[in-house]
Amino acid sequence: MDVKQAKITAVGHYLPEFRMTNFELEKLMDTNDEWIRTRTGISERRILKDPDKATAFMGAEAAKEALENAGVDASEIDLVILATVTPDFLFPATACLVQNMIGATNAFAFDLSAACSGFLYAVSTGSMYIESGRAKKVLVIGSDKMSSILDYTDRTTSILFGDGAGAVLLEESNDGTGLIDQIHHTEGDTNCSLYQHAGGSRNPATKETVENRQHYITQDGRAVFKKATMGMADVSLEIMKKNNLEPEDVAWLVPHQANLRIIDATANRMGLSSEKVMININKYGNTTAGTIPLCLYDWKDKLNYGDNLILAAFGGGFTWGAIYLKWGIK
Ligand code: ACO
Repeated sequence: MDVKQAKITAVGHYLPEFRMTNFELEKLMDTNDEWIRTRTGISERRILKDPDKATAFMGAEAAKEALENAGVDASEIDLVILATVTPDFLFPATACLVQNMIGATNAFAFDLSAACSGFLYAVSTGSMYIESGRAKKVLVIGSDKMSSILDYTDRTTSILFGDGAGAVLLEESNDGTGLIDQIHHTEGDTNCSLYQHAGGSRNPATKETVENRQHYITQDGRAVFKKATMGMADVSLEIMKKNNLEPEDVAWLVPHQANLRIIDATANRMGLSSEKVMININKYGNTTAGTIPLCLYDWKDKLNYGDNLILAAFGGGFTWGAIYLKWGIK
């Protein structure tokens, strides 16, 4: 088979208007702005307030912007992959709703669940369709309405997350730019360090699951912090070594935005100075599958054609990975 190369040809985003600051959280729970900023790097996050809108809406808005930026009609899309842990419904897939909302009438669509690594896994999957020649245009979306699974009485977890979405269009590359390498890992988390315990087939919704607050995300923050720091730093270094990249060869690290300290540790292991690291956790918190495309969106005007980017993430599962790509938008 003639193997092709996939590249990102456009980026889009959606962020809800409402900004929930740390000061707002102070009114809801025993926390304070200083603690949140110094332990996580977060000052505010966006929250989707409209009860009639959710992950599909945000994903569709991000996708529409990506298509507009690419000058591509939705009918030309072959495949829509949407990464999320907060689907509108357990089924049908949120990607199917988005496919309809944007009018991608010739596309097939599915969701991909890999928590905070979801966008990276989805880009990898989408790129395979391009590389094999089975698809010409693939929309990859990361969208999460984290506020729908946050327990605002749990100060250890709810302060971390926000809502938002980003989308990229993948197309065939004919100039050597695009995805060059990818490494992904999984380690089943049997200790329940980062879980939403109820709502699935193991613990369907009951009066008890609701009363016990089991439909919210829960985590062992310290355990996740240790694993995430190690996993993201290790895999970022692994992909650099595998591709003979020195720190000076890397233009940007595009890290999942979970905690500023995890990002700093990753950049340090890679030997990168802070000017080469995309950081917007202060404004948006952790938007799960949305963080990496939201970074690409925020930095798109600073990226130069041919720049070497390392995208890296760690998330629930546990899942983690890194992608090495050459930026291909002029
Ligand atoms: N406000 C004030 N105090 C708090 C808060 C809060 N919001 N949350 C916890 N504390 C207190 C604790 O109760 C504890 O008090 P104690 O010493 O009296 O017992 C103290 O602060 C220190 O708590 P730690 O859990 O040790 O704080 P830590 O420095 O580890 O920070 C945090 C906690 C921010 C959750 C960190 O562990 C973390 O970021 N973990 C990663 C979790 C994560 O990112 N999960 C998201 C999904 S996975 C991913 O995206 C990578």
